[in-house]
Amino acid sequence: MSDNTHKCDIGFVGLGVMGKNLVLNLADNGYKIAAFDLDSEKVGAAMAQDVAENKTGVPRVVGCSSYTELLSQLKSPHLIVLSVPAGAVVDQVCQNLIGAGIHPDDIVIDTGNSLWTDTVERETKYKENFIFFSSAVSGGEVGARFGPALMPSGSAYAWTRVKPIWSAIAAKVDAETGKPLERTKPGEIIEHGEPCADYIGPAGAGHYVKMVHNGIEYADMQMICEAYHVLREGLGLDCEQIADIFAQWNEGVLDSYLMEISVEVLRHKDAETGKHLVDLILDKAGQKGTGLWTAVSSLEVGCPAPTISQAVYARSISSFKDLRGETSQKLSPPASVTISEDEKQDIIVQLHDALYCAKICAYAQGFQLMKLASVEQNWDLNFASIAKIWRSGCIIRARFLQSITDAFERNHKLENVLLDDFFAEQLSNYQQNWRLAVARATMIGIPIGAISASLSYYDSMRSAVLPANLLQGQRDYFGAHTFRRLDKPENHKFHVEWTEAGRPIRKI
Ligand code: 3PG
Repeated sequence: MSDNTHKCDIGFVGLGVMGKNLVLNLADNGYKIAAFDLDSEKVGAAMAQDVAENKTGVPRVVGCSSYTELLSQLKSPHLIVLSVPAGAVVDQVCQNLIGAGIHPDDIVIDTGNSLWTDTVERETKYKENFIFFSSAVSGGEVGARFGPALMPSGSAYAWTRVKPIWSAIAAKVDAETGKPLERTKPGEIIEHGEPCADYIGPAGAGHYVKMVHNGIEYADMQMICEAYHVLREGLGLDCEQIADIFAQWNEGVLDSYLMEISVEVLRHKDAETGKHLVDLILDKAGQKGTGLWTAVSSLEVGCPAPTISQAVYARSISSFKDLRGETSQKLSPPASVTISEDEKQDIIVQLHDALYCAKICAYAQGFQLMKLASVEQNWDLNFASIAKIWRSGCIIRARFLQSITDAFERNHKLENVLLDDFFAEQLSNYQQNWRLAVARATMIGIPIGAISASLSYYDSMRSAVLPANLLQGQRDYFGAHTFRRLDKPENHKFHVEWTEAGRPIRKI
């Protein structure tokens, strides 16, 4: 047994923006870190920032120049956190740790946005060498520094070792009110409140949940952008006016981090030109892939997530800037309509309600997707706990998440958020304005695909009868795919020769 005195509590690999901030967050919470990055300047930067922020005068971050040195600096059994790009780099780092002599009872935690199936494979692949654990992190660089939302999964034993650390560094919410307890300054720690970190389930479950978090994030962001588009292009409001409207919306049911930062983005002035920066940003959206993975998974699982998928498509459409420039010269807009000042005020209220309803539907899709994946993978996910974790620290944190938490606490088996009495009533109360907003935007030619996709989802989900009867007829016509009948037992399948009228229906 090695002498653990003076050794570091945690090894850290990857000191990019997220990694460095997680290191400083861990250090603020009393952990001594051995830090390594292939880029030695990043190691130096993390150590320098620790010294600058650390009032104790004792360095809390020990820089390392190799994996071997990293392991030699750590208490046994080793605990190593990775903050490296998802994909092949995770495996490269794991192989390097094996080469450096990592032990079977050491734990390696992947905090990146790895594809959940890779995480499942890695747990098995490395089990002879070390315990591969995962814990997706959400909250961006500020979250990493002052309290992220954490979604750990994998070995239950590893969780017992990681839990106290994760509970310390995670964002916290007031247990009574559900409101975030903000940490904003280096050195500040919050010891009370409920941590936004809880065990999600077996390997892969945490990364799956984080993936869906990001899918919902795509939807949330896109819907805010659509509201902005209507206000800007449809009603002709300027950035400051829209920021004022969003700031007001952020006081009520739409209170969220994404709404809050949208206000700041809209108000931000470019240092060079003095103009609002948002007006100078090229309208081509980037994406790193987690929204796409969510949309793909929804198709694979067979769970409707049209708002999330539409948000991914909206980013794709935006990337065709040149083509859009060309088609904008060719394709005609709708007949122009004059909107009076009174009507503008009505549209603003309608848009608010539309955003709220559409958001409920996007979350309903995300939670139902997790539910179906949980059944398929035997994860036994706890949705009240997931909603609780998302109340603070993460990018989709919002007042709204408390209502989702309440819904799952009222009924742990809730199949879809739309079935919860509170949400059903909200949608019923606000739906008229939602419809009007979609109709208005359509008539003035502003695309609001995600908000409309949510409305179609709502209307589909509340329809006891859908036109899939005709669709089944079409399938049977050209492919003899068979159909079932409302007036016969459900397990009986039928096929008919559609072209020759009067032929008897055959039971298959
Ligand atoms: C992240 O993981 O950094 C974001 O949550 C999503 O990133 P994206 O918008 O680039 O896909």
